[in-house]
Amino acid sequence: MAGDELLYELKNVGFHYPSGEQALEQIDLTINRGEKVVLLGANGSGKSTLLKLLSGLLYAEEGAIRFAGKTLDEESLANEEFSFAFRRRVGFVFQNSDAQLFNSNVWEEIAFGPVQLGLPEAEVRRLVDDVIAMLGLERFTHRPPFKLSGGEKKLVAVASVLSLNPDVLLLDEPTGGLDPRTQRKLIHLIRKLNEAGKTIITTTHNLEIVEEIADRALVFSEDHHLVAAGACLEILSNRDMLVRVNLVDEEFHRHPHGANRILIHAHD
Ligand SMILES: Nc1ncnc2c1ncn2[C@@H]1O[C@H](COP(=O)(O)OP(=O)(O)OP(=O)(O)O)[C@@H](O)[C@H]1O
Ligand SMILES: [Mg+2]
Repeated sequence: MAGDELLYELKNVGFHYPSGEQALEQIDLTINRGEKVVLLGANGSGKSTLLKLLSGLLYAEEGAIRFAGKTLDEESLANEEFSFAFRRRVGFVFQNSDAQLFNSNVWEEIAFGPVQLGLPEAEVRRLVDDVIAMLGLERFTHRPPFKLSGGEKKLVAVASVLSLNPDVLLLDEPTGGLDPRTQRKLIHLIRKLNEAGKTIITTTHNLEIVEEIADRALVFSEDHHLVAAGACLEILSNRDMLVRVNLVDEEFHRHPHGANRILIHAHD
C-alpha cells in the first residue's frame, strides 16, 4: 500500500553513457515508500538506465537523486556503511539475466547475497529454501544457471534478489519471455510483496499487465524525457500519447481482435 513517505526524489536528472549515447534528460519525479510503479517507454527510451540510477549502479551526471532523504552519488555510495545499508534495502533484477547470474549452481546463486551479508549458515539455508519454495524452483537447485532456459534464468535472478529480502524491488522486464502460468505466478508475487509493504518499480512492454503490477505509470519518450505520469488507467486511456511515444502501433490498433484489451475503451 502506498504511504506518503518520500522514498526517491529525482530533480532534473540527466545521464549519457561514456560513448555519448543520451539516455535520460531532465527527469523530475518522486516515488513514495510502498508504491508500485511501472516505467513505460519504447526501446531505448531510458527505462533500464533509470533503474540503474535508482539502484546506485550508475550515478546521475546532471541533477540529483535522493533516497530516503540521502543523496545517491559516487561519494555517498563509496561510503561502505551507507552503501552496505543501501544495497541491502534495494534489490535489482536485470533485464538480461546473463548479466546477473554467475554462480555454479542455482542454490549457490540464491544463497550468494545472504552469504555476502555474513548471515549464519542456518539462516542462509532457511532464506534460500523459502525463496526456492515460493518460486517453485526445487527441480533446478543443483543445475548451473547458465544452462537454464531464458525464463528459468529470469526466475532464478528474481530469487537471488528476494533472498536478501529488500524493501525496494527494481524489476527490469520481470515477465519478459515467461510463459503464461509463470508470468501469472510472478504477478501474484509482485502484488503480495507490495501488500507486505515493499516498494516495487517495474518496467514492461506488456500493457496488458500494467494495471496488475502498478498503481502508477511513468511514461518516457523516445527522446528520453518523462512525458506523462499518472494512475495506470488514466495513462492507458491516453491513446494519442501512447502512439506518440511508440507504445501503441496505430495500424495494429485498427484491428479490434489484435488490439490491446485495455486500450479499446479509449475510443468510447
Ligand atoms: N551500456 C551502454 N552503453 C552505451 N549506450 C547505452 C548503454 N545502455 C544503454 N545505452 C543507450 O542508452 C539509451 C537508453 O537505453 P536503455 O537501456 O535505458 O533503454 P530502455 O528504455 O531500457 O530500452 P528497452 O525497452 O529496449 O529495454 C539507448 O539509446 C541505448 O542505446
Ligand atoms: Mg531496458
